[in-house]
Amino acid sequence: MSNAFVERSLEEVRFWSRIMKEHSLFLRLGFRCEDTQLIQEANGFYALFEQIESKANAYTPGTDPYTIKKFNEEVHLAVSHIWVFKRKVLGLILTCQLPGANNFPLLVDHVSREANYFRNRLEELNMGRLEPLPDAIIDENVFFLRIMADHAKFISHLLDPSERKLVEQANNFSQEFDTLLFQAKDLESMRPQSQTLPLLDQFLDQNKVSVKSLRDFKKTARDLIEACRIKSIIHPLLADHVFREAEHFLFIIDMFENSLTGAATAKPAPLAGP
Ligand SMILES: [Fe+2]
Ligand SMILES: [Fe+2]
Repeated sequence: MSNAFVERSLEEVRFWSRIMKEHSLFLRLGFRCEDTQLIQEANGFYALFEQIESKANAYTPGTDPYTIKKFNEEVHLAVSHIWVFKRKVLGLILTCQLPGANNFPLLVDHVSREANYFRNRLEELNMGRLEPLPDAIIDENVFFLRIMADHAKFISHLLDPSERKLVEQANNFSQEFDTLLFQAKDLESMRPQSQTLPLLDQFLDQNKVSVKSLRDFKKTARDLIEACRIKSIIHPLLADHVFREAEHFLFIIDMFENSLTGAATAKPAPLAGP
């Protein structure tokens, strides 16, 4: 039974439950007035994840690991339900049953992939096992590079077309991250031979440079949107949301880098479920 298990669980749940709560809001904003049933469901998920978030904030590193294990199971169930809801909405959009609604199919797929990721993390935490480092480095990067590439596409498509310079910048990021994603997939298919220290180290270095510059671009966009200085249909909270996800990816890259170089603080204590 480890303290690290409690801390890591709380970190993940605090971050992702806020994200799930905000997804419910974004989905709701994209529905049409007459979609009252879907709006109600989205509101229900908003309340559910708000509750989970405040519960996670109330627990401390000293909380009994058994309590946290139970809590993780409860969150896992909620995440499975929101995943089903997101996939249902995707199905409705793709069969043209919500004409005029404002959620892009790729955005709905994207938020369902994030729910699935969160669900997997909870399972790993409760089972007390993590992937070996070289596999985790490749898999996490494949996941998050695609998330970043999607974000660039959403920003580009939700900016007003007259914001030509910003649209161009967002499109450049989209291409850059598509390329990085393909590189990551190449490394993935070349494993285990590709999992050498120098290759993985260079892989992280290169990704980090691009994620930092996308993170800065998102921060600028967020500030401009909040100050009402640019034309777009991007909700200020969505701008902040994608910024936080980039920060989270950077945090993960840093953790990997530290683990690779064996830097003192870095290596997270092995996770042991209760
Ligand atoms: Fe998200
Ligand atoms: Fe996202």
